Amino acid sequence: MEVAEINSIKAYKKIIIYYFSGTGNAKNVALWFSQVASENGIESQIHNIAQIDRRSIDQPEPGALIVFVSPIHGFNYPPIMLNFLLHFPKGKNKVVLMNTRAGMLIGKFITPGLTGIAFYLAALILFIKGFSIKAILPVDMPSNWISLHPGLNKRTVIYLHQRNKVRVETFARKVLNGKWHFKALIEAYDLLLAPIALGYYVAGRFILAKTFYASSDCNNCDLCIKVCPVKAIVKIDDRPYWTFNCESCMKCMSNCPKKAIETGHGYVAAFVFLFSTIILVAFYKLFDLYFFPIENSIIRMAAESALSIGFIAIWYRLIHWLLGFKSFERIIVYTSLTKYKWWGRRYKALKEQEFRN
Ligand SMILES: Cc1cc2nc3c(=O)[nH]c(=O)nc-3n(C[C@H](O)[C@H](O)[C@H](O)COP(=O)(O)O)c2cc1C
Ligand code: SF4
Ligand code: SF4
Repeated sequence: MEVAEINSIKAYKKIIIYYFSGTGNAKNVALWFSQVASENGIESQIHNIAQIDRRSIDQPEPGALIVFVSPIHGFNYPPIMLNFLLHFPKGKNKVVLMNTRAGMLIGKFITPGLTGIAFYLAALILFIKGFSIKAILPVDMPSNWISLHPGLNKRTVIYLHQRNKVRVETFARKVLNGKWHFKALIEAYDLLLAPIALGYYVAGRFILAKTFYASSDCNNCDLCIKVCPVKAIVKIDDRPYWTFNCESCMKCMSNCPKKAIETGHGYVAAFVFLFSTIILVAFYKLFDLYFFPIENSIIRMAAESALSIGFIAIWYRLIHWLLGFKSFERIIVYTSLTKYKWWGRRYKALKEQEFRN
């Protein structure tokens, strides 16, 4: 970097970064941004929102730049970050919004993830509180969603880290120079994802919370319980049990030393089949018989969401009990794609020395 450019980075005396991260991508982005600030003599504070009292944040000191970094879950910021923003004190500071999304690689082309409504919603909340948004940046880090797709290979993971680090550093220098950055607004088609983001928020995330289980490889070390940022895992019948609090951040799965945490594709498929062919059909038959046909699509969506959440709660409790029987446990394990080598590579963001050129 040119000496003149270093000297010109003087727009802020202090930055305060708040991040949430499941598998480490958002944490890396927060650290990369912070390093640029520190290298340029700007005081930098960095807070993991899973480890602080999220309801009693001090009003940010005037003039400090506030930076929020979080992964995207279901085309939105995850509930922990949204709640944090909702409870964040008012202020007039300048703000930077960043997210990490599901990046993948085709040849040398990084396929972008989808931010959905995250920036728009967060910007609205912060704008109402008096803040002014100065810059936004989506960062296409390696996708960690191995419940949905096979885990990425090492070459892809390393390449995405190398490329994104440079991108974040360039962005940080620009922002710390006092410039604004809103290129991501080109992706305005993201707004079309609003209905899916809503569906994920009201029902999808609760179903996903029940897709995790611990196989018989679990040795009850309780590490998953300790690392969970929202304390969503409890013990039932002496085995880990995922509650509706789970944010599906994948941290437990990527940290289990026995690789015992799986996504139960088999029992989830059985749930979808039973729910759509029996439960839903029976519900509408009985409801129409004793009450009145539900014509309104919003009421139908609310009823179906409530019903699916209720049914998955019962279904998951049953599966948890069946896991106590060896033969059932094997069926559940062998119908979980994450059990197989070609799919279930666990993902954890890399440390600097693991991807340096
Ligand atoms: C439950 C879940 C939902 C996700 N939804 C999206 C999404 O809507 N759009 C996207 O681009 N990436 C999505 N991802 C991928 C993550 O946002 C991405 O891998 C992110 O970099 C993870 O950051 P972290 O390591 O800090 O948790 C999702 C991942 C999970 C586990
Ligand atoms: S981290 Fe793995 S082995 Fe340890 S209790 Fe959790 S599921 Fe079991
Ligand atoms: S239970 Fe696992 S996936 Fe769910 S929030 Fe906790 S660490 Fe994340």
